[in-house]
Amino acid sequence: MAEFIVAKTAGFCFGVDNAVKLAFRISEENPGNTSTLGEIIHNRQVMEELAQRGVKVVESPDELKEGEHVIIRAHGIGEAVYNELKKRNVIIHDATCPYVKRIHKLVRQKHAEGCTIIIVGDRNHPEIIGVNGWCDNRAYVVSSIEEVDLLPDISGPICVFAQTTMKQEKFDGIYEAVKKKFANTQKFDTICNATEVRQREAREISGTVDMMIVIGGKNSSNTQKLFEICSENCPLTFKIETVADLPPLDIKNINTIGITAGASTPDWVIREVIETMEENLRNQEQEMSFKEAFEA
Ligand code: F3S
Repeated sequence: MAEFIVAKTAGFCFGVDNAVKLAFRISEENPGNTSTLGEIIHNRQVMEELAQRGVKVVESPDELKEGEHVIIRAHGIGEAVYNELKKRNVIIHDATCPYVKRIHKLVRQKHAEGCTIIIVGDRNHPEIIGVNGWCDNRAYVVSSIEEVDLLPDISGPICVFAQTTMKQEKFDGIYEAVKKKFANTQKFDTICNATEVRQREAREISGTVDMMIVIGGKNSSNTQKLFEICSENCPLTFKIETVADLPPLDIKNINTIGITAGASTPDWVIREVIETMEENLRNQEQEMSFKEAFEA
């Protein structure tokens, strides 16, 4: 049977995995009394599964009632939102990714020391909204060199942080522009390399297999990126959301199948795809040996 090569980094990063597991555990222990502050993950299957277990998604602490369990997702939240949760006497389960937590601590400390904070990233992303909330929402958020040019005069020390999912070259380029414009700058490289490592592994695997399957949500941009990388190396690359989208398999021409998955794809979806493919291959093999025996 064809050999499967499954990427070690397929699916959830460590921070998201931790948050999703926590949401399932807390909802099991507290049925009907668990909410997440914002969607824990942008994955339809996971959100539907949680909804079936009675987990609500709320957008603000105002929607929570006393004694309710609330899960903070991996992106984290600002200090004021945190305090608001405490005031409401809800039971907080904090799944903020430790890498994001580290940024919160540094931003808070540097802001308290009198530094101006610049965050390189997407100002509408929940992670950045959360980080900005640890310096009284006083950070400047920039996402391009042009935006650095538009910054006002800043006196005193400046600390520059990166959104965790930012591309390294982009961050370095924007930081150089900040350094050129202001004399007293300090760089905090807060990029998490989970995405980069996943892409690197997908590139390596797709260069060695006959067929590549990339599993992830239709609207997931990181899944699309994985698909593009794999397609460059392996012409027989398919992007699927679930097992229902699997392409037909022709075992005569396929000896190795690579599997990877976007950052929001749960393990069980990956497993289901592999198991179904294995079953299809077994059936085809059986059919072939029947045919051969019949023709002999
Ligand atoms: Fe994931 Fe945490 Fe990195 S949420 S992408 S491991 S910063």
